[in-house]
Amino acid sequence: MSKVAIVTGGSSGIGLAFARMWVERGGKAALVARTESALAEAVASLGGAETARAYALDVRDLAALDALPLRVKADMGRVDVVVNNAGLNHRGSVRKYEATDLANVIATNLTAPIVLTRASLAVVEPGGSIVQVASVAGMVPVPGEATYCASKAGLRAFARAVADDDAARGLHVGCVSPGPVDTGFLGDLSEVPDIVLSQPMVTADDVASGILRCIDERIDEVVVPAMSGKLATMGYLLPGFAQRIRPVLEKRGAKNREAILAKRRAMS
Ligand SMILES: NC(=O)c1ccc[n+]([C@@H]2O[C@H](COP(=O)([O-])OP(=O)(O)OC[C@H]3O[C@@H](n4cnc5c(N)ncnc54)[C@H](OP(=O)(O)O)[C@@H]3O)[C@@H](O)[C@H]2O)c1
Repeated sequence: MSKVAIVTGGSSGIGLAFARMWVERGGKAALVARTESALAEAVASLGGAETARAYALDVRDLAALDALPLRVKADMGRVDVVVNNAGLNHRGSVRKYEATDLANVIATNLTAPIVLTRASLAVVEPGGSIVQVASVAGMVPVPGEATYCASKAGLRAFARAVADDDAARGLHVGCVSPGPVDTGFLGDLSEVPDIVLSQPMVTADDVASGILRCIDERIDEVVVPAMSGKLATMGYLLPGFAQRIRPVLEKRGAKNREAILAKRRAMS
């Protein structure tokens, strides 16, 4: 029987790239997102109802999320993997946003993965995996993304702690933390902090491969690219060092932004 993966944010970017790789290796995917038309397109691109199903819901709807693993098991026969990948970022000073905007970042990036993980623990087949898609921004704080950083740091902490929880016995709980990824999520590049763009931009496929490796090798945390993870860890452990190299990295980030924009202009 094909293994089934639930993928939140499965209609585009990293989630869809992972679902495609999962289906290519013989699995089936339960895709979660809000926009029905995008979900329908994604299901069709994965081969239709034989291999994928759409679950149109907002991950902030905790009752729907809580019921999801049993619903997918009833529809598709089993659940082997859950990828908590749907995410939200609001860039700029926290003063720019209403309280509810900031609460939505936490609800999407942290509360929803916690609730779906809890609901999945008793449903995922023995030996299965639950993977949280966090961020390098959860490893070292980035000004201009304070609430996002807080949500992703919290998600990394949750993944590590719940992996050792009795309730997760027999399951793998891991985390994948990407640097900047070339998807629509980055939005307007002029609003992305220079420090973020100082790290090499990877593709959704690169991150999807990281998620597969996390599952296959039962790794606690995969950082994509690995070198960004090493730099972020050093920056977190040695804040003085982080302060000193920040101007150099910001300069590199501004240069990278220009190069990416020039490439995009040449391609359009
Ligand atoms: N791209 C980056 O630079 C980057 C870097 C580090 C980490 N990440 C993380 O990677 C994850 C995926 O990002 P991506 O780059 O693949 O983004 P993306 O291409 O914009 O895809 C986001 C997906 O999440 C879904 N989604 C968003 N809010 C949702 C909600 N409330 N309920 C249900 N589904 C929701 C979207 O569909 P609908 O809008 O239709 O709901 C879409 O399927 C996020 O957690 C993000 O924080 C991204």
